[in-house]
Amino acid sequence: MMRQLVFPRRPFAAAGLLIAAIAQAQTDGFVAPYVPTVEEDVELMLDVAGVRPDDYVIDLGSGDGRIAIAAARRGALAHGVQLDPELVELARASAARSGVSERVAFLHGDIFEADIGRATVVTLYLFPDANLMLRPKLLAELRPGTRVVSNSFHMGEWQPDVHDTSARSSGGVLLWIVPARIEGEWLLETDDGTFSLVVQQRFQEIDVDISIDRDATGSWSGLAAGSATLTGDRIRFDAESDTVRLSFDGRAGDGVMEGYVQMVHEQRFFVGRWRALPAGASSP
Ligand SMILES: C[S@@+](CC[C@H](N)C(=O)[O-])C[C@H]1O[C@@H](n2cnc3c(N)ncnc32)[C@H](O)[C@@H]1O
Repeated sequence: MMRQLVFPRRPFAAAGLLIAAIAQAQTDGFVAPYVPTVEEDVELMLDVAGVRPDDYVIDLGSGDGRIAIAAARRGALAHGVQLDPELVELARASAARSGVSERVAFLHGDIFEADIGRATVVTLYLFPDANLMLRPKLLAELRPGTRVVSNSFHMGEWQPDVHDTSARSSGGVLLWIVPARIEGEWLLETDDGTFSLVVQQRFQEIDVDISIDRDATGSWSGLAAGSATLTGDRIRFDAESDTVRLSFDGRAGDGVMEGYVQMVHEQRFFVGRWRALPAGASSP
């Protein structure tokens, strides 16, 4: 996709200046101007993302470094990526003054080239078009469960899991949890039989269609899929017939899904394990 290009280094106080800056767009790789997040919203972004000391936070387009520095103040490790070398120096000096240089780094570079795979939290304050340009990279390179938090701007059809409108910024603070990729056909095995699953996925929204491949108990005829949810790598879905109700709860890993299934049959509860592999793989 073509990059839309803005640039400046100095924050813009007024909308008129911002528009003027955008009008001066140059083909230098900048996709958003330098407009720092207000301090209250920095803390709100970290609260909404639930940043803890065991997190690794990456701020893409880190400006003067305030978000990464605030994350480091909470005990997390953090780094910022910033295309303007002067802002990188400003952020490093600010980190040193804040006494968090050992936990935060600022890298001079382009957010589209950044290595983001180790992040548990990614923070953004870019333009809407920039979020959309970044979306494929976020979905492809971040691990399922990674939290992405944005000041003000959406991600198109990828609906936020949380939209906190208490922010000072009128657009609020938005949070997405990166979903595992599970679309396709799966063969799911339990102790009592085997199912075929067809998963349709649009970001974190999933539909699970379930059919019986082998029914060892003979009690599943007429089984129909119920609700299904995906949060990061956590998948839950139900199926029921007139005589049995099945609740699957598990995790999606690399080419495998597995967990526990609770079966309710004739007012008795059974719990067993389930495991699913992509249809066509050797055996679940
Ligand atoms: C709106 S500011 C946000 C700064 C900081 N994240 C904050 O919230 O205070 C956007 C920042 O992204 C930087 N930026 C824009 N395009 C970039 C790119 N392609 N690679 C790295 N940084 C970029 C800008 O220079 C600017 O500092």
